[in-house]
Amino acid sequence: MKTACIFDLDGVIVDTAKYHYLAWKRLANSLGFDFTEHDNEKLKGVSRIESLKLILQLGGQQLSEADFEAALTRKNNWYLEYINTIGPEEILPGAFAFLQSAKQLGMKVALGSASKNAVLILQRIGLLEQFDAIVDGNKVSKAKPDPEVFTKAAQELGVDARQCIVFEDAVAGVQAALNADMHVVGIGEAKVLHQAHVVLPNFSGTNIEQVVQSLPESA
Ligand code: G6P
Ligand code: MG
Repeated sequence: MKTACIFDLDGVIVDTAKYHYLAWKRLANSLGFDFTEHDNEKLKGVSRIESLKLILQLGGQQLSEADFEAALTRKNNWYLEYINTIGPEEILPGAFAFLQSAKQLGMKVALGSASKNAVLILQRIGLLEQFDAIVDGNKVSKAKPDPEVFTKAAQELGVDARQCIVFEDAVAGVQAALNADMHVVGIGEAKVLHQAHVVLPNFSGTNIEQVVQSLPESA
């Protein structure tokens, strides 16, 4: 039985993935190299520290410990500049109605995000009160694809992993859900998220009952 939904935040509930990209691009440019949207796919779902390590690898650069910390702060300050102006209009199409459909069916809902800014974003878009549990980047030490974020969310909800359906837009996040032994629905492009049990372009025109029915028996 599937009794709980665990939602990633960036790129699933809210359209913040573009702001992460813009802030990382600005940082890469300030370090003297470019950062493309194609490269950005590898960063989705990945923690801030791991993201910077990947970007520096791409740019063939190394930073001292102090400069690394300063770069993380600069990126986050730019990111905060972007998200400080967002509101409910940035909720992705159909996401709120979908969340409601799960709650109406009596399912528990949790957030499972690598972001340390998750609570701030949920406040800004008015969804903070909707979740039964919130596990974010402040509560986990291992980045996706490690399953920690989703395993903790299931624990906080008091359900087994096999009862959970994870919604993810990132390759690393899909892998984290599989590593947690959960059902996983990819939100985005099937060719990118092909490891997910089911992939939807977004939440428009669907609800939790349709999604549960579309999951393969073996999933
Ligand atoms: C999400 C995003 C990543 C981001 C990570 C950490 O998983 O998909 O792009 O790097 O959260 O976010 P933060 O807001 O803590 O920098
Ligand atoms: Mg995401």
